[in-house]
Amino acid sequence: MSLKRTKSVVLTGYSGAPEMVETRMTEMRPLDGLIEVQVHTCGINFADIYQRSGFLSLPLPFTMGLECCGIVTAIGYRSDKFRVGDKVICYNYMGGMYSEQVRVDEINCFKIPRDISFEEGACLFINYVSAYLCLLEIGNLTDGKSVFIHSLAGGFGLAAVQICQRFKDVTIYGTASPSKFQYLHDRYGLSNVMVTEDLIDGFCAMCPGGLDIVLETESGDVKDFLMSQLRPLGRMIILGAKSSIAREAIDRPVGLINPVDLILTNRIVSGFHLGVLCDNRKELLEEVLQTVIDWLRDGIINPVIHSIWDSLESYLDAIAVLERRSNIGKILLKIT
Ligand SMILES: NC(=O)c1ccc[n+]([C@@H]2O[C@H](COP(=O)([O-])OP(=O)(O)OC[C@H]3O[C@@H](n4cnc5c(N)ncnc54)[C@H](OP(=O)(O)O)[C@@H]3O)[C@@H](O)[C@H]2O)c1
Repeated sequence: MSLKRTKSVVLTGYSGAPEMVETRMTEMRPLDGLIEVQVHTCGINFADIYQRSGFLSLPLPFTMGLECCGIVTAIGYRSDKFRVGDKVICYNYMGGMYSEQVRVDEINCFKIPRDISFEEGACLFINYVSAYLCLLEIGNLTDGKSVFIHSLAGGFGLAAVQICQRFKDVTIYGTASPSKFQYLHDRYGLSNVMVTEDLIDGFCAMCPGGLDIVLETESGDVKDFLMSQLRPLGRMIILGAKSSIAREAIDRPVGLINPVDLILTNRIVSGFHLGVLCDNRKELLEEVLQTVIDWLRDGIINPVIHSIWDSLESYLDAIAVLERRSNIGKILLKIT
């Protein structure tokens, strides 16, 4: 029996070059044991840049895309949790979501209320669930703390800012491209913002008292510097490695963490990977997603959308905005 086909954005090589991305028909997995979803909107993430550079070395070719929001159209098993017609978010850090239709395991599927729009659904999961877990579950964020966030105006950065501002007297420090300083000041009242290149020389003057929480996504010397800025009992959560995109840099063992240093400085260093948590703590992610949805309804958070691109064929134009570092907020691909 021939397999059902769907249009997808497929990665064919790891050079990062646009020619290595194709929009073409792909065969879907057999429905047996899976949930089929008609995709409406996909969220674009920095992880695409990691994937295209070969960071994860997944077997090629594969369909890209970590998250989407759509409607369940078929279920290949008896499910107590899902029904045809449900609105869902699908998430898989290995990719597979930039398609007109996807077939996913139940573990990668999250039911959301009908009144959450497809656009909101495509913004909420990776950025807000990750920011919540990093700041609250790992970071122990409370009133009065000082928090450092890289790329404050990015999708994850703004999610983290909005969650921080739910608390009283939290001081936010971070980085952004200069073109975003004004926005961060006018919209969020943020003035402790620098470009990454100035951080090591200029940060101590800006923040002499040190940091309680660092959300670290840069790696390399910047990571080591920020670790040195943690107050006693301060926490660094490492969840990305933007400056290590070049293959040689990933393989280079920079900034090894010394346990004796950690003991003597009373610092807490943690890793965070949403995808791996999805594989083994799905119930926690469902709980956090529910809180995030409640916060959305209460106006505590408000996803910022930079742009919505209207087809899978627009993918390369959409990701180019992120690669040029010009996005403020999330970039979305609208499929249907
Ligand atoms: N581990 C996890 O589970 C997890 C989950 C969520 C997010 N994250 C991490 O959080 C970070 C942010 O993710 P996001 O999807 O929200 O992306 P994003 O911050 O919207 O990414 C785009 C922004 O990153 C900055 N940037 C820094 N270096 C760059 C480079 N070499 N090329 C392009 N842009 C660069 C630019 O902002 P500026 O120029 O203004 O800095 C750009 O506008 C990523 O490192 C991602 O891996 C990790």
